[in-house]
Amino acid sequence: VHLISDRLRTLIHEHTGLRERSGGVDRIADIVQSRVHALSLAGAEEYARFLNCGGSEANSEIRTLTVCLTTGETHFFRDRGQFDLIEKTILPALIVERNASKNLRIWSAGCSTGDEPYSIAMAVDSLLANRRDWNVEIFGTDINLQALDKARTGAYTDWSFRVIDDDRKHAYFDGSSGQWVLKRRIRNAVRFGALNLIHDKFQLAGIRDMDLILCRNVFIYFKHYSIQSVLDKMVAVLRPGGYLLTAHGELHGQEPAQLEALCYPESSVYRKRAHAKPKPALAEVGCLAQKALPAPKPAAVAPVSELEQMARDFANKGDHETAEALCKRVLEGDPFAIRTYYLLAKIAEERKQTDGAKEMLKKALYLAPDYVAAYIDLADVYEREKNAERAQKLRLSALECLRHPRGNSEELCEGATPADLIVVLESMVNEAVNVR
Ligand SMILES: C[S@@+](CC[C@H](N)C(=O)[O-])C[C@H]1O[C@@H](n2cnc3c(N)ncnc32)[C@H](O)[C@@H]1O
Repeated sequence: VHLISDRLRTLIHEHTGLRERSGGVDRIADIVQSRVHALSLAGAEEYARFLNCGGSEANSEIRTLTVCLTTGETHFFRDRGQFDLIEKTILPALIVERNASKNLRIWSAGCSTGDEPYSIAMAVDSLLANRRDWNVEIFGTDINLQALDKARTGAYTDWSFRVIDDDRKHAYFDGSSGQWVLKRRIRNAVRFGALNLIHDKFQLAGIRDMDLILCRNVFIYFKHYSIQSVLDKMVAVLRPGGYLLTAHGELHGQEPAQLEALCYPESSVYRKRAHAKPKPALAEVGCLAQKALPAPKPAAVAPVSELEQMARDFANKGDHETAEALCKRVLEGDPFAIRTYYLLAKIAEERKQTDGAKEMLKKALYLAPDYVAAYIDLADVYEREKNAERAQKLRLSALECLRHPRGNSEELCEGATPADLIVVLESMVNEAVNVR
């Protein structure tokens, strides 16, 4: 039997945002033991120091720990009642509401091996007769990279089909005798990506303006405080009128004021109020920022070139070497291609080269003093290095740029909307002020 101190157990729950589950002590001790072994550390105390040291290695270990402490159990059309509600009520209502724009954005948060977002893709496919006229984007995110790899293959065994009817199975899957592969058009309908719901900023992963968020059987693992902060972040990326569906009773009465609960016989579902106000900003924060900052010059942001786009595509696929080589070629042709410095910083972060990431972000900011995304990323680096003061200053700078945009603000947010970023940054800045 392995033993670990209460302090280490608390530390693990603090870092992962997960709650202590009954009877979980022995399991945590076993997990710690196996992680100590995998990392070739001397023992549990050294493991505690490793978790506390911040930086990308500690972050990656927190992801691994989260995966060990949660399960990826899922299957197609899980909770038939909720799926009936989605297919017969929520999706038809959204299709009517969005008929003018023909845009629909759906996010399965904590999607594990993809059964949930693919079930949604099948439901949308059968509901939209004129599917080609619509732009339907379905996102599946999870902290577990292996589960995401499996999701991308679209290959499943009979175990995933516990509640799917045979007609649907044969309409959307090819295969037989226990091995099934989703048809390509359904596979292509879902975009998968890694995202830590507790620590990551959703907008920076392209998660915004959602019509429907499914986050089912995920909140059960989270501490009260983590549920609250993840919910706030979710509300910020929901469109007014957009829906949030959790598993039954997962929110324990913690619904934010911006959501109203709608009760159907099959399940409750939350809807963002049409005039939901973001959390109030700290007026004095704005004054501080104005005093602290020089007036930023607007940067000349050229559209992303073909070569730069190729670099982005390789980086997204995880081929960092090719992406880096392409970035260098872009910069040889145009040393002011500021978004290329940002991409290089992202690649350096992925490769856990913190100093390289810092250097590239500083270069981007030197050339474009209103580069909001670069401020935010640099702030994160300093926060991981426990330099809270520097992180706070950088976030205030980002807020200042967002409040007084001088053109280019959309491009320099790198996929997030300025309005969403203001909400996120204000809450981070407020939180830091309260901690002090
Ligand atoms: C039980 S599965 C739920 C799958 C699916 N939503 C369903 O209901 O069938 C829980 C998933 O949440 C993921 N998860 C747990 N903590 C997470 C976090 N902090 N960020 C992102 N995903 C997380 C796990 O990796 C796991 O795949």
